Amino acid sequence: MPPADAAGIAAGKPPEKPPDRMSSADEITPRAARGDDGAPAARPALARFDHASVVFDTPSGPLKAVDDMRCEIHEGDFVSVIGPSGCGKTTMMNMLAGFQQPTSGSVSFEGRPITGPGPERGVIFQEYGVFPWLTVKDNIAFGLSLAANRIGAKEREEICAHYLALMGLSDFANVYPKHLSGGMRQRVAIARAYAVKPKFLLMDEPFGALDAQTRSNMQNLLLEVLAAEGKTVMLITHSVDEAIYLSSRIIVVTARPARIRQIVDVKFPYPRHEEIHERAEFAELRRTIRELVASEYRAQQAQARPEPFPR
Ligand SMILES: Nc1ncnc2c1ncn2[C@@H]1O[C@H](COP(=O)(O)OP(=O)(O)O)[C@@H](O)[C@H]1O
Ligand SMILES: [Mg+2]
Repeated sequence: MPPADAAGIAAGKPPEKPPDRMSSADEITPRAARGDDGAPAARPALARFDHASVVFDTPSGPLKAVDDMRCEIHEGDFVSVIGPSGCGKTTMMNMLAGFQQPTSGSVSFEGRPITGPGPERGVIFQEYGVFPWLTVKDNIAFGLSLAANRIGAKEREEICAHYLALMGLSDFANVYPKHLSGGMRQRVAIARAYAVKPKFLLMDEPFGALDAQTRSNMQNLLLEVLAAEGKTVMLITHSVDEAIYLSSRIIVVTARPARIRQIVDVKFPYPRHEEIHERAEFAELRRTIRELVASEYRAQQAQARPEPFPR
């Protein structure tokens, strides 16, 4: 599948509509799932939230983190999720990863309810997901040595060498993570997830701890990996620019509990290059999404402080 198709956007064609067009929360079928006439095509979703909610039991009572999430992710989609801190984004992703069961509704992958983690879904956590007792190279090789992904030693060496080089870590192959900077450790975690070549990459603020230049490099590298391997991605991010630059769709979620506030299609064709940051359409999308997110932060503050400040 060519990368542009994998991204759900017709190869080389200009976007059919201005990129600031937004679909309402009810209109959840992504463009990738539509036929030429705009009608939804009969294409099964890769992953699907079907009225999924999560309520946690806490010492101070039930806490709803995700509410009635309804959304389909199709093969080749790059979906970003953006919303206030603590609103339920990680909980949402944990359901796809198989770490969290919905309290009501369902979440499925390839038509089957998700009951646990699986090698076809690669997760990159918000915190550094590296094993301190393994060297950089062994961290990257870790997933490849699991039974589900078992491959020959030679192939494993090649894959490790490829991702070490891609992440600029070749000189650190035999070093333990404690000797690396935070940003380098996160690159190890990213390399480990990429090396297994999962069909679906779940990324929870993967670049948040990186300096601006490394972050930008990692974004471009991700676009390259996607172009070469045609994956499906869900990315949680706080960066509106990152979401626009990388995604085919952005799901803006509400203050807790996370519900779909708005789904925004990003119609810049892939492959994308840095220069799209300078476009007027980019600025317009940025303004729209920032305002949506800011209004949810205001809603969250209002929830947290229902009483006016005493004077
Ligand atoms: N295992 C858990 N038990 C109880 N509460 C939790 C648990 N996991 C998350 N929460 C709460 O659910 C809410 C949403 O958390 P989370 O999904 O991590 O938000 P986000 O990723 O958007 O910052 C937060 O209030 C958090 O404290
Ligand atoms: Mg989170």
